[in-house]
This record gives sequence, structure tokens and C-alpha cells, in this order.
Amino acid sequence: MRRPLVAGNWKMNGTRASVAELVSGLRKQSLPEQVDVVVFPGFLHADQVLTSIRSLDLSVGVGVQDCSPDPDCGARTGEISAHQIADLGCAWVLVGHSERRTFWSESDEVLTQKCRAAQQAGLKIVFCVGETLEQRESGISLAVVEQQLKAVLPLLDAHETVVIAYEPIWAIGTGLTAQPNQVQEIHAGIRAWLARCLGAGSATVKNMRILYGGSVKAANACELFAMPDVDGGLIGGASLSADEFGAICRAAG
Ligand code: G3P
Repeated sequence: MRRPLVAGNWKMNGTRASVAELVSGLRKQSLPEQVDVVVFPGFLHADQVLTSIRSLDLSVGVGVQDCSPDPDCGARTGEISAHQIADLGCAWVLVGHSERRTFWSESDEVLTQKCRAAQQAGLKIVFCVGETLEQRESGISLAVVEQQLKAVLPLLDAHETVVIAYEPIWAIGTGLTAQPNQVQEIHAGIRAWLARCLGAGSATVKNMRILYGGSVKAANACELFAMPDVDGGLIGGASLSADEFGAICRAAG
């Protein structure tokens, strides 16, 4: 049985005051012990969140939303290395989010490098994939996702350092949530593809957690998380409300 994971991607949101309020609000939530909970603040707030979570003794992991493809520190102005992220105390990193693929034209090659750098630094990875509305309407959603996953196939291992997040782009921030059967179809397709690539008996295939992201709310989380190949969620807007995010975490429990 895969342990559920619910992650909050705060994106480019928050001030020091609102982040303090959000973490304080999480402390008031009854977060289920049987669910892994991780938050992904912006870079500038990661240290504050880590410090607050430690001081409040919250069982919540902290990650960041990107890392440099270059594994080591050095002459890369403006970049943040995976080693620096690990040194700060973060355990997770998001790679391949559709917003980075879209707005920063991140290629599969760069995403492979980012994942390799993250693994070398000992970080766990949530690797994001997903199709556009046009691709879904063309019936090629799974083919697109399989192509995106090829970038990390060599890095998938039985040590569960990689979690996959399926986020149909047309459901992100739109309020248009994918239907549970649509989500299950893609998640099952991902697991079947992994089995073809790695062997049906592979521990990676059995243990791979596949999250759904795209307009997950407290109101729809239960039916989404009830799907057999949905192992939790990657939450955007709803993660900025402690009450809403806490309810989604409980729905995964
Ligand atoms: O990474 C999660 C995000 O892309 C989903 O956003 O606001 O639709 O939950 P949202």
C-alpha cells in the first residue's frame, strides 16, 4: 500500500506575514499521521517556513519549486543549486511544473539535468507532467505524458526519491477539475507504462506514488483520492488556505 502524499505548491505567492499566518494555520489543522504532507513555498520564504515548522514541531516536509540543472555552486548568476537547497534543510524539489515548461521553455534535457542534480544532492523530487487541452481533445494525453516521463526514466529507482504528479494543464488554476475516471485512466496508464519500461515486478512500479494536480479542492478531493492509482495531490490555490489544505490532507488519509 503506497503512503498518500499531499503537497502544497504555493507558487509565486506570499509575504513574510502571510506565510507566517499560513504556517500558523497549519498548526491548527489535524493533519493525518498516515499522510505525508509537504509544502513548497517560494525560495525567499523557505528558510522562514523551515524555522517555523521546526519550532512548531509540525510533521510537514518543506521543498522548493525549482533548482538549477547545474549540480554544483558556481558561476551561475541568479541560480540556486540543489546542494544549496539541501544545505538549507529542504528535502524536496518540484521539477517540470507546466508553468516552468511553458514560461521558461524548460526542455526534457534540462529537466533530466535538474532531476539528476536534485538526486545527487539527496533531494526527493516531485516530477510534474501533463497535457494541454488541445492534446487532450486530440486523444494523445497519455502519449504526451509518457514522452515527458522519458526524461526521468533513467532516474527512477526503488528508493522512492521520485514522485510523479499528473497535472493536466487545462485543469490548473481554472476550476476545471479533471473527472476522477479521466484521472484514473492516465494514472493507470502511467503505471502500466512504467511496468513496460521497468518490468511488472519492479518495486519502483509498485511503489511509485502518482499525485493528481489541477483544481483540487476540499469538495472534490475525496472522490479523486478514492481512485486506485491516485496516491494524493499536488495542490495549488487551495494550499494557500490552511483550512482548505488541511481538509484536502484529511481527505487523503
Ligand atoms: O502544482 C499544483 C498546481 O499546478 C495546481 O494548481 O490552483 O489548480 O490547484 P491549482
